[in-house]
Amino acid sequence: MKHLQQNSSNLDELSAKERVIYSRLDKERLPGHIAIIMDGNGRWANRRHLPRFVGHRRGVQTVRGVVETAARIGLSYLTLYAFSAENWKRRPKAEVEFLMQLLRQYLRQEVPRLNRNNVRLTYIGRIRELPESVQERLKWAEESTADNTGMVLTLALNYGARTEIVDALRSIIDTARNNGGFEHLDIDEDLVSSHLYGRMPDPDLLIRTSGELRVSNFLLWQIAYAEIYITDKLWPDFEGTDLLHAIADYQGRERRYGGLTSSSNEQHESSLGNASDDGEAAIAFLAVRK
Ligand code: IPE
Ligand code: IPE
Ligand code: MG
Repeated sequence: MKHLQQNSSNLDELSAKERVIYSRLDKERLPGHIAIIMDGNGRWANRRHLPRFVGHRRGVQTVRGVVETAARIGLSYLTLYAFSAENWKRRPKAEVEFLMQLLRQYLRQEVPRLNRNNVRLTYIGRIRELPESVQERLKWAEESTADNTGMVLTLALNYGARTEIVDALRSIIDTARNNGGFEHLDIDEDLVSSHLYGRMPDPDLLIRTSGELRVSNFLLWQIAYAEIYITDKLWPDFEGTDLLHAIADYQGRERRYGGLTSSSNEQHESSLGNASDDGEAAIAFLAVRK
């Protein structure tokens, strides 16, 4: 629920189509953090009778476009699910190796572009389980973009939300042990959040491409109150304009965080204010709930 300050934007660089959609958005209510489950590379390739790796390659081009559009409109945080801990364990070795190679290539090619767009790169996931050569490239890319002050782009790599929560518990226990024990340990939501992998606010908007109605072990703790937007478009077909359409849809939602709608809340309060005893209050309450 934190209110995020938007980054400075670079709207001149939006395409004509993007500008039209952007012009209709409420600039005061842009989401601060968008997280995307980039799904459908394999299906995109299958539909064209091409091998899956071609779909992954096209998926990287989509990443480039979406990152630029997000940075241009001044989004503060973009988090992309690049591959899951489950992908790592369950996909054929050749596909995993291809994805690793693609990631190395992406990092090498994208750093100059990220710098041009003032984007800072970070990661979440069990990075230490990735091949050495990938880890080195990740470190290099993170360091090369560390001074950028614009959008924070987080790649979820070998990421699993349950693993993240397990790692957070381990980290809480280790920290307590190293700081005089458990007696003064105050366990609350902020403590758990502060031991998760990333240092970003919770996502406001979660997008999933390719139509599956599931979250596939992504940011389970952090998406507690995210608005969810699912499109049938396959990731390689997703464009900057689709990102802006998702934001427009998000702006049509009413976020309640377990409370009431703002109009029924006012009605509720005024009717309870007029009630002189419990009976009247109950009647007023029931009237509002109808
Ligand atoms: C998403 O595309 C990319 C990764 C999970 C690495 P998929 O590879 O899951 O594509 P589909 O779901 O098989 O179409
Ligand atoms: C989710 O996609 C993971 C990423 C996009 C990286 P999957 O293709 O792995 O998800 P499932 O298997 O359909 O749930
Ligand atoms: Mg998939």
